[in-house]
Amino acid sequence: MAIQRVSVNKLFEMKRTGEKIAMLTAYDYLMASQLDECGIDIILVGDSVGNVLLGYEDTIPVTMDEMIHHCKAVTRGVKRAMVVGDMPFMSYQASLEEAVHNAGRFLKEAGAQAVKVEGGEEVLEAIKKIIDSGIPVMGHLGLTPQSVHKFGGYGVRGQSEEEASKILRDAKKLEEVGVFSIVLEKVPAELSRRITEELSIPTIGIGAGVFCDGQVLVTHDMLGLFEKFKPKFSKRYANLAEEIKRCYREYIEEVKTGKFPTDEHSY
Ligand code: KIV
Repeated sequence: MAIQRVSVNKLFEMKRTGEKIAMLTAYDYLMASQLDECGIDIILVGDSVGNVLLGYEDTIPVTMDEMIHHCKAVTRGVKRAMVVGDMPFMSYQASLEEAVHNAGRFLKEAGAQAVKVEGGEEVLEAIKKIIDSGIPVMGHLGLTPQSVHKFGGYGVRGQSEEEASKILRDAKKLEEVGVFSIVLEKVPAELSRRITEELSIPTIGIGAGVFCDGQVLVTHDMLGLFEKFKPKFSKRYANLAEEIKRCYREYIEEVKTGKFPTDEHSY
């Protein structure tokens, strides 16, 4: 039987029936195919690729061409999950034409099924234009890492009443304009509960508590593969960096001492 791709309608149904949505990031074929095999619902080709794989300080330098390169690798490995391409900084802010053109590249060139856009009211026009072109959009509110310099850091958003009201207002506007779901990053659990209850589209939390319709983490964080920092909201399911470095050290030692290769590895 043909594998059924996770669709926007499937995600709506999951919200209705209370089945939680599991989402993780991937930037390459291998990780994406393993995630797909294990039954992940959504794979985000996040601009976190900038921090995690490309060695940038933040996500700001990430380009469209870099995102397309990684998204192509991911979609080659995925049959069931919905693949969402993350619109990088300045790929949708400068003009509506650029926003539509760049969102279209994720679907046409890289084979994604949807795109994610950071921001609320300020980028509503661009989001509407992208959706009007037939491209499903996932919103992203709360901590929006591309605005790190505007907010002056990566702190929890929506702690003041004023900021919480703005996030709730933005969430409603995003729903009105037609986004199919919203990532809520680093906001108080009570705020994400309210948004989740008041919206009919699914919310996906990252550091947003237990009430969201789904959860997302950066896969390299949850595997303990990326050691540069460990956010409080991320759970480590393994300590792969340690294990990988143990293998590297053992290999180096074995090559130097002549323990590897043996006859077993020879022709
Ligand atoms: O780029 C990313 O990985 C993200 C998630 C943290 C939601 O935007």
